[in-house]
Amino acid sequence: MGDLPQNDNTQPSNCGQTITIEVVNRNGGSKIIEVNLADKKYKAKAPTLATVLTGSEDIEAVCKEQLSCSTCIGEIESDGKLPKVSEDELDVLDSATKGAPSSTVRLSCQIPLKSGQNYKFTQV
Ligand code: FES
Repeated sequence: MGDLPQNDNTQPSNCGQTITIEVVNRNGGSKIIEVNLADKKYKAKAPTLATVLTGSEDIEAVCKEQLSCSTCIGEIESDGKLPKVSEDELDVLDSATKGAPSSTVRLSCQIPLKSGQNYKFTQV
C-alpha cells in the first residue's frame, strides 16, 4: 500500500473532501483521478468507486450497480478500510473469477468513496 497517493493536509479546507484514485490499466499504464466528494453532483447520492470509474470510462458498470454484471471488477486497494464483502457480492465474484476470488478483487460498485481515503483500482 506504500504507493498510494497520500492526502496533503496543506491544501485549502474543502480539499479535505478531495480524494485520489489511481487507475492502473491492463497495459500497466496508470493515471490519477481526483474526486471532490463535496461536489454538488454527489449531494443526492454518495459516489461509489464505480460511479467515478464509469465517468472516466475506465469501466462500464453495465448493470448500474445492481450486482448482476461484474463489469466493474478490479483489484482494489485503499489506505483506509474497505467495506466487507457481502454474500451477494461474493456470489458475483465467485462467478466472475470461476470460484477463485482473491481478497483484493472486488466489485467497484460496492465500494462507497469516503473522504480521507485514497484508492487504487487495477483493471483485471
Ligand atoms: S456494476 Fe454490475 S456488478 Fe457492479
